[in-house]
Amino acid sequence: MSPSWKFSAFLLLLLVSMVGTALSSLVSVGDFNKDFYITWSPSHVNTSADGRQRSLRLDQESGAGFDSNEMFLFGEIDMQIKLVPGHSAGSVVAFYLTSDQPNRDEIDFEFLGNVSGQPYILQTNVFADGFDNREERIYLWFDPTKDFHTYSILWNLEQILFMVDWVPIRVYKNHADKGVAFPRWQPMSIKVSLWNGETWATRGGHDKIDWSKGPFIASFRNYKIDACVWRGNARFCRGESETNWWHKPKHRTLSPAQRRLFRWVRKHHLIYDYCLDNKRFQNKLPTECSLPKY
Ligand SMILES: *[C@@H]1O[C@H](CO)[C@@H](O)[C@H](O)[C@H]1NC(C)=O
Ligand SMILES: *[C@@H]1O[C@H](CO)[C@@H](O)[C@H](O)[C@H]1NC(C)=O
Repeated sequence: MSPSWKFSAFLLLLLVSMVGTALSSLVSVGDFNKDFYITWSPSHVNTSADGRQRSLRLDQESGAGFDSNEMFLFGEIDMQIKLVPGHSAGSVVAFYLTSDQPNRDEIDFEFLGNVSGQPYILQTNVFADGFDNREERIYLWFDPTKDFHTYSILWNLEQILFMVDWVPIRVYKNHADKGVAFPRWQPMSIKVSLWNGETWATRGGHDKIDWSKGPFIASFRNYKIDACVWRGNARFCRGESETNWWHKPKHRTLSPAQRRLFRWVRKHHLIYDYCLDNKRFQNKLPTECSLPKY
C-alpha cells in the first residue's frame, strides 16, 4: 500500500467511527424546530425565532403538544420548564417518555395546576410492560411558575432516576430478577403537552378550569437530549461505551450525596406514594414496594 493510500484508509476509518458516534448519542443543543414536531394544535404553540424556547397554550378551544422526531433507548433527557403562572387549576403539563405500544413503557412527569397561590403537585409515574399504577406525588420546594427549572430523566439498565434541578426525587430500580417489570427493551419518544385535566387533577377534580383566568401558558427551553438514538438494534444501546455514558457504574445507583437529597425529598416533600397506599391495593402492594428503593 502506498503511504497516501494508507492515509486515505485511515481517514475513512476515522470518518466511519465519527459517524458511528454521531448516530449513537445525540447531544442536542436545543432547537425545538429541529428535534421535535408539533402533534397537536400548532395554533397553540409559539416558538422563539431561534427555536430555543417554546410555549404551549391552553384555552377553551384546545391544549397543545409536541413529540421528538427520534426514539431513544436509555440516556438522559433534561427539560427546562416554567409552569403556568397564577391560576392554573385543572391544567396539566406533561413531560414524558413513552413507547406508545399496547404493552407500553412510559416514564412520566405530570404537573398538576392549582388555584392561585396554592402549590402545584408534581406527579411521577412509571409504566412497565403496560402496567402502571405507580404514582408518586410531591410538592416542590420552590414556586415552579416563577422561573425555569430543570426536570430530568436518567434511564439506564439499573435504574430510572427522576430529578428536579439535579435533586433525585424518585428512583425506579431494576428488580427484573425479582419479577418486577422494568422498561429496557422498547425505545421511547419524548413528549410534551399541556391539556385539560379538570376531571381529576386539582384536589381530585374539585377545582375545575376557570376559563376567565386563561389563556394558560407553560414554557420550555434549553432541553438536552443525551441518549441512544433508536436504529433498530437494542444491543447497541444496551452496551456500555464512552457515548453510552449512562450505563457506567457510577450511574447505576445513587451516590451518597444523591441519597441524602433523595431522603430529604421523601421526608419533607412527598405527599403520596403508591407503595404506602395499602387501602388502594387491598394490602397486596406491588412487589417492588418491599424491595430496596435504591
Ligand atoms: C410568542 O413568543 C414570543 C417570545 O418568544 C412573545 O414575544 C410573543 O408575544 C408570543 N406570541 C404569542 C402569540 O403568544
Ligand atoms: C392545591 O392546593 C390544595 C390546598 O392547598 C392542596 O390540598 C392540593 O394538594 C394542591 N394541589 C393540587 C394539584 O390539588
